[in-house]
Amino acid sequence: MAGTASNERGSWNSKLGFILAAAGSAVGLGNIWGFPTQVADNGGAAFLVIYLLCSFLIGFPVMVAELAIGRKSGKNPVGAFKALSSNKFFPLVGLWGVICGVMILSFYTVIAGWAFGYAFEEIFYAVGMDNVASWIADVGNGPKNAIVASLFMLATIKIITGGVSGGIEKATKTMMPLLIGILLIMIGYVMFQPGSAEGIREYLLPDFSKVNSDLIFSAMGQAFFSLSLGMGALITYGSYLNKKENIPQAAAFVTLADVGIAFLAGLLIIPAMYLAQANGVEIFVDGKLADSTTLVFTVLPELFHSMGSVGVVFGVTFFLLLSIAALTSTISLLEVPVSYAIDEHELPRPKAAWVIGLGILAVSLLIAFFPNLIGYFVTVFNNIGLPLGGFLICVFVAYVWKTDGALTEMEFGFAGIKQSMFSKIWPFFIYVVCPAAILFTLLQTLWSLITG
Ligand code: PHE
Repeated sequence: MAGTASNERGSWNSKLGFILAAAGSAVGLGNIWGFPTQVADNGGAAFLVIYLLCSFLIGFPVMVAELAIGRKSGKNPVGAFKALSSNKFFPLVGLWGVICGVMILSFYTVIAGWAFGYAFEEIFYAVGMDNVASWIADVGNGPKNAIVASLFMLATIKIITGGVSGGIEKATKTMMPLLIGILLIMIGYVMFQPGSAEGIREYLLPDFSKVNSDLIFSAMGQAFFSLSLGMGALITYGSYLNKKENIPQAAAFVTLADVGIAFLAGLLIIPAMYLAQANGVEIFVDGKLADSTTLVFTVLPELFHSMGSVGVVFGVTFFLLLSIAALTSTISLLEVPVSYAIDEHELPRPKAAWVIGLGILAVSLLIAFFPNLIGYFVTVFNNIGLPLGGFLICVFVAYVWKTDGALTEMEFGFAGIKQSMFSKIWPFFIYVVCPAAILFTLLQTLWSLITG
């Protein structure tokens, strides 16, 4: 089977394998680190409600579009746009997606490294080696950041060299169920702690007077990042999808899994935040989060340390879990440029994975020593890059490929789609609702950058 570039592409072995891999891409630091932080920063339950609306009304239709583009073309994001039209501009959109993937991966690896490091911090803390524990806990510690980020990138490269079904699918199939199980156990523990009720209230009872344009734009950005949209990760994963599969149904499963895990992560971390605050940890300063980049890393160890000896088990398990969730996302981020190199430059898979992975690691090492760069990367590649990509994907499907072309592709696996309600509603979202909402978000983001 090995040999030519097309044989290197591979495909998913089963429907469940695809759904777990795509959900694995979606579920990551965005859910467990990003989402609870955004909830805490943006008024609790009101943010949750708007985030759910953005995920289902804007994210889901775009996800369907990406998967359809991927499966029809059977290509990476650049090749996909080339295959579906003769328009010269859209392959550049694919290339922008590849660039966003590379740049997001470079800082994502550093944050994932923090999470991985904390699993060890918990152990050293438990055995009384406080000096080593605080050396690891220091997120500004360049050499430590470099070591853990490198380990993380090497694991990602190793899985990608294993290919689609043997590497990505196999890895995520075991890791995803584990993640959900551990999360549920921990929520059970936190719920029974005295003092967690205030956090639960804050998380579940919306105060809609807190909704303003900033909140809506943050919710939209969070939904895009968390669903892995706008940079072609799901075009790439869709390209390995079998014609038997029902695309809207698969996208619905992935969206539900992603939103569901974000919801569970909030249910764990928001009450934990209030517990930590009751223990004297500074969480809010003047009603704003003291430090949003590291909130989860401040709050959770505090919770674990307050739990006595069982805390070390929870702590280690939790941070390993967070690392696993991040790993299933980093493999999808690396798969985008790797599939591009395989398809467009005919590189063999292992070579593509090593060359590109190590190249990205070089950028990660820079960020490891200067973690303040993360904020700039987030602004350019997440907050601007992903919505821009998502907007252009909608424009492509609506006005170049045409939604009817996409619906024809989706007839495979969903016979009679053209007579269904879906074919009446989805095109309207792709023509009007999604591009308008995304463009609005984008312009608002740019405006607030310009005006400071
Ligand atoms: N969705 C991932 C997360 O929530 C991040 C990601 C973004 C992965 C874009 C792939 C593409 O952490």
